[in-house]
Amino acid sequence: MDPIPDGPLYDGPLLDGLRLDGTGPLHAQLLRALRADILQGRLPPGSRLPPTRALAVELGLSRNTVLGAYDQLRAEGFIEARVGSGSRVAQVPHAAPARPQPAPARVAAQTAYARRARERLDLPGIPGRDVPGARWAFQYGVPFANPALTTAWAQALSRAARYTRPHYPSAHGLPALREAICDYLFRRRGVHAAPEDVLVVAGTQQALALTARVLLEPGDEAAIEEPHYNAIRSVLQVHGARLRPVQVDADGLRCDRLPASRPPRLVCVTPSHQFPTGAVMSPSRRLALLDYAQRHGSWIFEDDYDGEFRYGGRPLAALRALDGAGRVIYVGTFSKALYPALRLGYMVLPPGLRDDFVAAKWLEDFGSPAIEQAALAAFIGDGGFERHLRRAARALRERRQALIDGLRACGRGRLELADSNAGMHLTVWLRGRGRADGERLIALARARGLGLYPIAPYYLAPPDRAGLLMGYAGLSVGQIRAGLACFADCLDALDAAP
Ligand SMILES: Cc1ncc(COP(=O)(O)O)c(C=O)c1O
Repeated sequence: MDPIPDGPLYDGPLLDGLRLDGTGPLHAQLLRALRADILQGRLPPGSRLPPTRALAVELGLSRNTVLGAYDQLRAEGFIEARVGSGSRVAQVPHAAPARPQPAPARVAAQTAYARRARERLDLPGIPGRDVPGARWAFQYGVPFANPALTTAWAQALSRAARYTRPHYPSAHGLPALREAICDYLFRRRGVHAAPEDVLVVAGTQQALALTARVLLEPGDEAAIEEPHYNAIRSVLQVHGARLRPVQVDADGLRCDRLPASRPPRLVCVTPSHQFPTGAVMSPSRRLALLDYAQRHGSWIFEDDYDGEFRYGGRPLAALRALDGAGRVIYVGTFSKALYPALRLGYMVLPPGLRDDFVAAKWLEDFGSPAIEQAALAAFIGDGGFERHLRRAARALRERRQALIDGLRACGRGRLELADSNAGMHLTVWLRGRGRADGERLIALARARGLGLYPIAPYYLAPPDRAGLLMGYAGLSVGQIRAGLACFADCLDALDAAP
């Protein structure tokens, strides 16, 4: 290190302009602020830093906090201490006045995958269209917030953090969680699965990415519902699959529209609650789809994303429960029942595919986080999860009813509600209006602080109808009513527009 040059002595106000960013521990804030001042030339080499005691008094910090920051700066080589003359800024090679950096130019896409991802994904739009400053946002995918769940989950997590082995977890998933999932699926979804058939994954999204990797060569065909969950479409497209959209009606996927020759290798469906229309796949369609898959050697990706919440009728058995031929990959997620932030879900795999999927998961990330898995296993095992589901289902039922009643009242015949008995969203159509009118309504709502979201992104070829996807899990009954009062004004304003 160069000797410290004789620089200006520090004798002005104590580091005028030093600004702490308010994030994290105080010594770290001070360290960041001083380091930035040195790097950006506001404290040039040779400058004397104020004595720790004086700076502590000036900033209202403890002296230990300042000492800690100085020690760290010294260890990093930014300052040097001299007996009798305190600390000075060292001759740091990169200490130069700040110059605005040009924004880095994006390089050309380096692979076919990156090219497809750029074409398909509108990154600023991920994960959904935000309506900044919305007072009421009927946004799909916002979880049901429950303080009791937060408390219970925090306890489960902290216990798991204390007792979980800190080694790499099994790529397959923690045995305790796989067992808890099997038990839950048997009781709630009629699915018989052995723990070795279950693979713990980072949500439906990873389940589909692994499925594409294990089952589809680029160029292979995958059938998806039309309309469908747009993230499924993106994963398949970016993987390089060719998509075959297949219409849905009130009984779910139109299996008769699946091709008789050149069958797709994969068929992705949401039979318990078609996304986004809400249709439940009828028993005869279920059998027809299973028969098709068996005859043609297709695989079925059964996305059972919100099967936990249903408000009427008996749930039909999952496709997986009827699958005698081992063609169904059943996928569940904790994004709806708990939080999307958890990024935990599971696959129930046909035995013949198990090893390929576990290998793909290992290659991807070595396995899902063990502490969260252990916490979840305990939470399911001690009944906390199902207690939460019962509570959430009661609250969601009330919210859904408030939304339906409110839409009927404010629609005055102008709206059509898709029949749906489950989940956390409703599909709503504006009678006799085209997509442009739907966009106009959304803009009117946005200007009034109301978040409304179009249905069109969930189609490969959207119909020229004004449709909305209305999520209600994140709004209280009071907020839903207030939001719908605003919605009624927007409908009136749309009617009044020339
Ligand atoms: C149809 C469908 N499947 C799955 C999911 C959940 O995905 P993940 O488990 O990756 O959070 C959603 C969430 O919005 C969904 O709408």
